[in-house]
Amino acid sequence: MAPNHNEILIAPSILSADFARLGAEVRAIDEMGADWIHVDVMDGHFVPNITIGPDVVKALRPHTKKVFDVHLMIAPADPYIEAFAKAGSDIITVHAEAGPHIHRSMQMIRSLGKQAGVTITPGTHESALEYLLDSVDLILVMTVNPGFGGQAFIHSQVEKIRRIRAMIGKRPIRLEVDGGVNPETAALVAAAGADTLVAGSAVFKGGTPDHYKTNIAAIRSAAGRARMP
Ligand code: DX5
Ligand code: ZN
Repeated sequence: MAPNHNEILIAPSILSADFARLGAEVRAIDEMGADWIHVDVMDGHFVPNITIGPDVVKALRPHTKKVFDVHLMIAPADPYIEAFAKAGSDIITVHAEAGPHIHRSMQMIRSLGKQAGVTITPGTHESALEYLLDSVDLILVMTVNPGFGGQAFIHSQVEKIRRIRAMIGKRPIRLEVDGGVNPETAALVAAAGADTLVAGSAVFKGGTPDHYKTNIAAIRSAAGRARMP
């Protein structure tokens, strides 16, 4: 198993929440064990779906003190980074596929005092990350093609996660995984070196805060067991 000393963090994706009750849903996952709140931003252009913008992030900000982990599935991303920063994002993640100047996007996020994340879709090779390693706080590996919750985990990405963990070495970079994460796949990615797990449908399944608590705990314990020496 790859060496990894970061604790496992669980970041429920509010894409699977009840959008009519988003503030209450964010409070519920906060109380039921979420470490971060994962916010999926889609533009109907980079991905075939449209979700939320900076005003929704701003409206949700007073509902929790937890980290807002904002995943931009938009192209171009740079013109919107400042708005998401001002809305209260803590981490802003941009797709390497979303434009020609991903390094500049990372610089822009850090210059706004936020943590910079880069993400790659399942079809992108990890070499796209090589020259960004000293400019990012987080690498997100997509284990589905971005656009929708509830898709099946793409198993070929587990080996990619293992290779990225080795590329990271001792750098203080979190390695996050997003897409099709449930207790079973959480174990696979944690064993490969992931330390931060996004889950939408597997967290919100059941639809009540008690379910959220059980679901978050199940993912966390499966991941924790998988990375034990
Ligand atoms: C996919 C999003 C994910 C998604 C995860 O485009 O980036 O965050 O909501 O949903 P599940 O966990 O249901 O695959
Ligand atoms: Zn996401």
